[in-house]
Amino acid sequence: MKRMKKFIALVLCACMFTILLSGCASVGDGKRIIRISHAQSETHPEHIGLLKFKEYVEENLGDKYEVQIYPNELLGGAQKAIELTQTGAIDFVVAGTANLETFAEIYEIFSMPYLFTSEEAYHATMMDTEYMTENVYESTDEAGFRVLTWYNAGSRSFYATKPIETPEDLKGLKIRVQQSPASIKMANAFGAAASPMSFGEVYTAIQQGVIDGAENNELALTNNKHGEVAKYYSYNRHQMVPDMLIGNLKFLNSLSEEELKIFEEAAALSTEVELEEWDVQVEEAKRIAQEEMNVEFIDVDVQVFRDAVSSVQDEMLVENPTIQSLYDHIQEINSQYEDAEEGN
Ligand code: GCU
Repeated sequence: MKRMKKFIALVLCACMFTILLSGCASVGDGKRIIRISHAQSETHPEHIGLLKFKEYVEENLGDKYEVQIYPNELLGGAQKAIELTQTGAIDFVVAGTANLETFAEIYEIFSMPYLFTSEEAYHATMMDTEYMTENVYESTDEAGFRVLTWYNAGSRSFYATKPIETPEDLKGLKIRVQQSPASIKMANAFGAAASPMSFGEVYTAIQQGVIDGAENNELALTNNKHGEVAKYYSYNRHQMVPDMLIGNLKFLNSLSEEELKIFEEAAALSTEVELEEWDVQVEEAKRIAQEEMNVEFIDVDVQVFRDAVSSVQDEMLVENPTIQSLYDHIQEINSQYEDAEEGN
């Protein structure tokens, strides 16, 4: 029996490998299959954005390419899926910037608490594709992949099985963070005990009391069902962190100029769709979490949270000078929107 199980497991493994290694293979009709992996469900704004990406690529290059989207960490968690994209076993992956820190230090900047002072400044920064490509997206070329576009993942706040009103309440709480040094630093600076793990593990970890809570956007409560196990969401908004659509560089470089243009246009369109969908779904997530899952949303004094981690930005700038010029760039954009608000 044991042998039989081992045999079945081996056959399954072999099948998975064949799927992944056939990244460059064609389907029966001679088309090249493009595989995209992501961690969210099929109703999530990112999946809907990617459907647009697929539609546009196939509309324009459908005789040559077929795009397949793999949601729900089907091909592995973010770290694993990035590795698969790096080697070319798959072509694209959507992942949070925290997962990119180990490939290029510049990505640490997004984990900095209270980096953007307004949503407008965050969007304006990310929408400048030319600046982002030259200063950020090309930074992982050596690692074998490049970011094509960003998706809005809202703002991140703490949620837990107990109410968090002030940073004091975080003391001693085990809070899940993304698997990155800067995310750990950020949570520890708030006084919490940072517990890094992959996104897919969070629900069970809260349910089993391994951790007390996590930090994320509102969709984590509904789309990922964390609101079933954590009933208090505190609006302290410590980060606005984008997700990135990352492509295997060899594949991107293999495209003709016209083809690459289509893929870039598809990426930009997918962002447009995702952004619109995001705004709609966040409102809906708040309603569902509150009315159907009994999650309590707590409006905290954000300034108190800001003060608790006021030294972190400077510390990060000293530890990682590669982020300085992007940091200055963002400060400039921040001030433009603050000035605009004052002028109103
Ligand atoms: C959000 C974000 C993901 C990220 C996840 C996490 O859902 O969109 O990219 O991986 O949070 O906290 O791990």
